[in-house]
Amino acid sequence: MSVVGVVGGGQLARMMIPAAINLGIDLKVFGETDVASAHLAVTQVGDYADFTQLARFAKGVDVLTFDHEHVPLEHLRALQEQGTTVFPPPQALALTQDKTVMRSALEELDVPQPLWAVIDDADDDAVSHVGNFPCIAKLPVGGYDGKGVRVVTQWSEIEDWLEKGPVLLEELVEFTRELAQLGARRPSGQWQAWPVVETRQQGGVCAQVISPAEGLNPSQASLANSLAENIADTYGVVGVLAVELFEKPSGDIVVNELAMRPHNSGHIFTEQSDTSQFEQHLRAVTDTALGSTRLRDNTGIMINLFGSAEFSTWQQCAGDFPSVKFHSYQKPSRPGRKAGHLALTGPTTAETLSEALAAEEAYKGAHS
Ligand SMILES: Nc1ncnc2c1ncn2[C@@H]1O[C@H](COP(=O)(O)OP(=O)(O)O)[C@@H](O)[C@H]1O
Ligand SMILES: [Mg+2]
Repeated sequence: MSVVGVVGGGQLARMMIPAAINLGIDLKVFGETDVASAHLAVTQVGDYADFTQLARFAKGVDVLTFDHEHVPLEHLRALQEQGTTVFPPPQALALTQDKTVMRSALEELDVPQPLWAVIDDADDDAVSHVGNFPCIAKLPVGGYDGKGVRVVTQWSEIEDWLEKGPVLLEELVEFTRELAQLGARRPSGQWQAWPVVETRQQGGVCAQVISPAEGLNPSQASLANSLAENIADTYGVVGVLAVELFEKPSGDIVVNELAMRPHNSGHIFTEQSDTSQFEQHLRAVTDTALGSTRLRDNTGIMINLFGSAEFSTWQQCAGDFPSVKFHSYQKPSRPGRKAGHLALTGPTTAETLSEALAAEEAYKGAHS
């Protein structure tokens, strides 16, 4: 298998390009526009929700994979019937498309998660299932970067959502920090995980990642790894699986959500690990032995850049931060949109974080 087709032309597809070049994989991207972040590898532009267009793209590839989770499952099942290899397969992807499907699946696996309920209307009983107000409400489908998540103190705050369809209610978890367990699985079942990282959100969006998460005890680390492997095995995930976690004050960890593709929380592995998540995803979907996930440096820091990430701006401050790696997604600039990131590895968290933050400040200063 040497032709990998990626549906979606965002930054995740873009960052698969260097890994594909090194491995000698022919990467083809089905983008929504020809100014996609992954434009260097875009071979077809169109609408992935249109089966005819998707099938035309799938014809020219050995395996179909994704940069996002929005492709209709019925299209993917139909492609499988026509002989296309789809990784991750639709039965696995289903858990990432609808948060209520994910919650039911995790319940069946006995995976620790927040209390939850699905509601069709203002249902005071349902709130008692998840504790009380304030609780969390989520749109089951289509949310990202916190856009489908609200803290709710009374029903009027989600009236607009309830008019449209069912809403997922969750217990408001008083977490001490958010973590992520990433790993990859290949069709034969080989599973290879990276150490757990800490993710820091601002306004529901990942702002920073600290790798590895500091002070995690061995039982937390082994639980995070085994629950991720269990999910991957049970649903036949192929490729990268990211499991977002909350750590409670007791040290217990519960699952927030899943992604089955490279994930924002794993960008630091490009600099810090023997194998990047983009290379690992390509190895997994081509059924190739997975690479080592050893960390080469004690600490890795990733900081997201929002709005814009212009090379010309970075040029103005690059000289002061020769060890910091700048990644631009080459996306049209939009306020609040993830536009790129900075990555730095080093011997201690304190020093590395402070240098990475200084680089972020310098970048913002150069931009304004
Ligand atoms: N049950 C919860 N309790 C507390 N905070 C939550 C809960 N669910 C989500 N959040 C917060 O909202 C953020 C976004 O929620 P998430 O379900 O991951 O949505 P998205 O798909 O937008 O990433 C989380 O990273 C976390 O900070
Ligand atoms: Mg999330």
